[in-house]
Amino acid sequence: MTRRVLIAGNWKMNMLRADGEALATALASGVAPGSAADLLVCPPATLIASVAAKLSGSAVSVGGQDCHMNESGAHTGDIAAAMIKDLGAGYVIVGHSERRADHAESDETVKSKASAALAAALIPIICVGETEGERDAGKAESVVGSQLCGSIPESATEDTIVIAYEPVWAIGTGRTPTVDDIAAMHSHMRQVAGSVLGGSDNLRLLYGGSVKPGNAMEILALRDVDGALVGGASLKAEDFLGIAAAAE
Ligand code: 13P
Repeated sequence: MTRRVLIAGNWKMNMLRADGEALATALASGVAPGSAADLLVCPPATLIASVAAKLSGSAVSVGGQDCHMNESGAHTGDIAAAMIKDLGAGYVIVGHSERRADHAESDETVKSKASAALAAALIPIICVGETEGERDAGKAESVVGSQLCGSIPESATEDTIVIAYEPVWAIGTGRTPTVDDIAAMHSHMRQVAGSVLGGSDNLRLLYGGSVKPGNAMEILALRDVDGALVGGASLKAEDFLGIAAAAE
């Protein structure tokens, strides 16, 4: 088993150029040499190019937060996967719950976007996660299982995608599932994704939702957790690097 830990920061709709570049510069100089974890930041599309320039030569990669499902064409305001790749990105988040909610993205849409990302040689980070009501109703595993089956494209392999489990109720709330619940969900996800992909020993499964330096170590220590997708705490270099250090 050779899964490298991935600590990914999702900046969401935050940061103007000066602050984003300053954060990137702080990460580039603060990242531990020979870090055991892969580090990634996903700034808003407006900043991918300038953040990539600041991170050039460092151990921190850059990604997008979304891409369109089509290669190019008449889609005003949208951004194609190849355009994100063209700016120096290696990854793109697809199917984040905020996009599923704000833009009514279905599993089918997410699957097409992940497929477009793969076609552009980007690694899609496919997000899944249940709402609080679904968890309370005992449906968390079935909801996540069905999101996985609906969102993983046929062209994917266990080596070419990353999956992030982000319970909707844990995002930006300071609440997290218990480590037992995270462990159980990740084990379930490895099994379901494994049956879709034909194997999942190499598949990286991230946990996201209120990850902080203070709780990162116990979450990252779980056998089936291969990293974190971090929102709020990725906006401060100290916190993001603290989470990365917890992966060592
Ligand atoms: P928070 O870390 O702010 O809870 O956000 C998690 C998230 O949505 C990352 O994609």
